[in-house]
Amino acid sequence: MMMPRLGQNRGMTNVHSDARPSAPAAPPSLRPHTPLPDYYATDAERDKFIARMFNDTASDYDRIERVLAWGSGRWYRREALRRAGLASGMQVLDVGIGTGLVAREALALVGAGGSLVGVDPSPGMMGEVQLPGVELLTGRAEALPRPDASCDFLSMGYALRHINDVAPAFAEFHRVLRPGGRLLVLEITRPASRAGLLALKAYMRAFVPLVARIVGRRKDTAELWRYYWDTIEACIAPETVMAALRAAGFQDVQRHVELGIFSEYTAIKAGHA
Ligand SMILES: C[S@@+](CC[C@H](N)C(=O)[O-])C[C@H]1O[C@@H](n2cnc3c(N)ncnc32)[C@H](O)[C@@H]1O
Repeated sequence: MMMPRLGQNRGMTNVHSDARPSAPAAPPSLRPHTPLPDYYATDAERDKFIARMFNDTASDYDRIERVLAWGSGRWYRREALRRAGLASGMQVLDVGIGTGLVAREALALVGAGGSLVGVDPSPGMMGEVQLPGVELLTGRAEALPRPDASCDFLSMGYALRHINDVAPAFAEFHRVLRPGGRLLVLEITRPASRAGLLALKAYMRAFVPLVARIVGRRKDTAELWRYYWDTIEACIAPETVMAALRAAGFQDVQRHVELGIFSEYTAIKAGHA
């Protein structure tokens, strides 16, 4: 299946000879990674596969994450949120909230004067969220169930590879942020060097599924972590993610990288709150 790349159809719309106003052009489609036929054959099957995988393995997610991140997951997420400008009193929208690992750190930073709404399509993952005061909404990044200009800060942790279409998702992020609002997208990126790539691949393809089999309670947990690596390897390049953020209207688009693989994409919606 041919996957259109960002900007492929730019310039083909909105060329009118009369003066009638045209509807805003839909953002061009941008898939987060090339198709993975080992797991699904069609887009519809991909949706079902992802939904099943996260719903069925949700109860194992935090335990495996804790073991594999060697306890640094919480600390790292909080530091990334702080670096991106999350501060006391802000209203946060956490997209792909999952079991709440980013949300928990965000809540600690915004304090009692702030608030957090979480969105995720997986009832299984959201069923594991244990964060008092958080509003949980079933939904997708590509069609957020939130009003325009309704949050100061939008976070999305490790869900970029699992969404269907990056371009409409970034357009939605821009829509729901207030002017001056800040965005943080956390994602794991392929290492630039061949040696780094081989080392990470061995770790993620062999060691992680083994740990998942030992520590996990669900038999498909190992499959989730194998799939996890395959999506990292097939993922669009960081430059493409940054170009898509600019195309969605974001300013000051930046990428901060930790340990060569943890990418923090940050951006600002123009204007003042
Ligand atoms: C790897 S988990 C990350 C959870 C959490 N943010 C964290 O940092 O651990 C990815 C989450 O993305 C969710 N997801 C899948 N497709 C999505 C979509 N189209 N929009 C938003 N979230 C999606 C999954 O249900 C899952 O909960």
